[in-house]
Amino acid sequence: DWKMASFAETTIRELREKIGNGKVLCALSGGVDSSVAAVMLSKAIGKQLTCVFVDHGLLRKNEGDEVEEVFGPKGSYELNFIRINAQERFYSKLAGIEEPEQKRKIIGEEFIRVFEEEAQKIGSVDFLVQGTIYPDVIESGLGKSAVIKSHHNVGGLPDYVDFKEIIEPLRLLFKDEVRKVGLELGIPEYLVFRQPFPGPGLGIRIIGDVTAEKVRIVQDADAIYREEIAKAGVDKTLGQYFAALSNMRSVGVMGDERTYDYAVVLRAVSTSDFMTAEAAPIPWDVLHLVASRIVNEVKGVNRVLYDCTGKPPATIEFE
Ligand code: XMP
Repeated sequence: DWKMASFAETTIRELREKIGNGKVLCALSGGVDSSVAAVMLSKAIGKQLTCVFVDHGLLRKNEGDEVEEVFGPKGSYELNFIRINAQERFYSKLAGIEEPEQKRKIIGEEFIRVFEEEAQKIGSVDFLVQGTIYPDVIESGLGKSAVIKSHHNVGGLPDYVDFKEIIEPLRLLFKDEVRKVGLELGIPEYLVFRQPFPGPGLGIRIIGDVTAEKVRIVQDADAIYREEIAKAGVDKTLGQYFAALSNMRSVGVMGDERTYDYAVVLRAVSTSDFMTAEAAPIPWDVLHLVASRIVNEVKGVNRVLYDCTGKPPATIEFE
C-alpha cells in the first residue's frame, strides 16, 4: 500500500526531527495500536525509546511471552524493552472482589501505579507516546460504551508521568490504516490482525472474583477455542471471539465419579462497530469439537455453554 508506506516514511522522518536526542517513553500493551506506534518510534529514534510492558496476569495464554519475543532483546527492533511481571500484585488486589466496576477500577488503577513506578525509575522523559487513533480522537466507536462501563486502556496515563509532551503518531488513522502501516513496517501478521482485547483483560471475562486458578482455566479454554476457530477458517468473519468463565459450577460425571466444576462460556460475535453485535453462528461441528477438547483438556471444567445473545441487550464482554 503505497499511501501507507509513504505515511510511515514521512511520519518517521518527522518524529526523528521533532524528538532530536530526547528521551521517549511508551506504554506497550501488545495491541495493534501501541505496537505500531512503538515500531514507528523505534525506527525513528532507536534506543532513545523505552517501552514498558505491564503483564497484569490477565492476558491471553502465552501473550506476555509473545509480546516479549517481538519487542524484547531477542526481537527485531531497536528499543529498550521493560517487562513488568505484576501478576501477583494484581491477583492480590483483586482477591475476593466480585463487583464488575470495582474490578475494572482496581485493574485500571493498579496498572497506572505499576507504570508510574517504572516511569519514575527511568526519570523524567521528554515525550510520552500514545497509540491514540482517529476514532478515539472523535470519541465515536468504543468511546460511547464508556458510559456503560468504565474503560481501561493505556490512554489514561498522562497525569501520572513526568513528561513534556505527548506524541500520537496514529491520531489521523483509522484501524484498517493502522494495520496497513503495521504490515509496511514488517510487524508480524498475527499481531497486526489481532482481535480487540480489553484493557482489563481476562479480569472481565471471569465473572465474579478472580483467582490464579480461574485465569488458568479461562486461558486454556480460550486458547483451544481460538486454535479450533482458526483451523476451521471461520475467524475472518468474526469481530471478536473468546472464552469466558461463568462463576457457576454444576454437577457432572467423569467415569464413575461425580464432578462439581465450572462452566466455560464461548462467545463469538460479528459486528461492524462494536456498538452493536450479533451472536455468530459457529458451525456445530466446530463447537462440538471445542467443547469436548475443553472438558477433556482443561482441569476444573465439566460443562461448556454457548452465548447466543446479541448486543444489546448483552454486551460483548461479560462485565
Ligand atoms: P462491550 O463489552 O462494552 O465491548 O460490548 C465493546 C468493545 O470494547 C472492548 N472493551 C474494552 N476495551 N478497555 C478497552 O480497551 C476496556 O475497558 C474495554 N471494555 C470493553 C470490548 O472488548 C469490545 O471490543
